[in-house]
Amino acid sequence: MHHLLEKLHKDHRNLEKILDLLTAQLDQFLAGRESDFDLKIELLEYMETYADQGHHPLENVIFTVARPLVGERAELMDRLITQHHELGQLTRIFRNSLENIYQGGVMSRDELEVQGREFIALQRQHLALEEQEAFPMLDEVLTDEHWKTIIEQSPNHDDPVFDKPDKIRFQTLFEYLSRSE
Ligand SMILES: [Fe+2]
Repeated sequence: MHHLLEKLHKDHRNLEKILDLLTAQLDQFLAGRESDFDLKIELLEYMETYADQGHHPLENVIFTVARPLVGERAELMDRLITQHHELGQLTRIFRNSLENIYQGGVMSRDELEVQGREFIALQRQHLALEEQEAFPMLDEVLTDEHWKTIIEQSPNHDDPVFDKPDKIRFQTLFEYLSRSE
């Protein structure tokens, strides 16, 4: 498997960790127990700065290069690129909602629950679709030449949590991750 595909696969496992933490935090908050607002915001911040601005743009380059090579499965490439756009919007909306609720805004807990559960479910479905259907196909059709083109076009974007840790910006998240290890 090409190292970029391996990197994306590793990102997915990290994203699953982030989604697990978010789920646990949402459960606690909705059950009326104490939950960590700073952590929730940092989780969303990570989704915005890495998943939406680094990981997804790289996948978009790969899907675009692979698109003419995969026949009818071009539809899958298009669908995943569209989902990246939609997920990016959902991240922003959900983050705004969390901030609104903590600032005593008008949003109800029920509304937040629907939005949060949907956000997490769609993220997980998207990861599963890429892992199960897209990546095995990409691994088959992309040659070294294609990967060279992809690398030339790919954005250079470090992961601020799992690659180049920014321990100030993601302080709370690092505390949780080190406790869970
Ligand atoms: Fe992905």
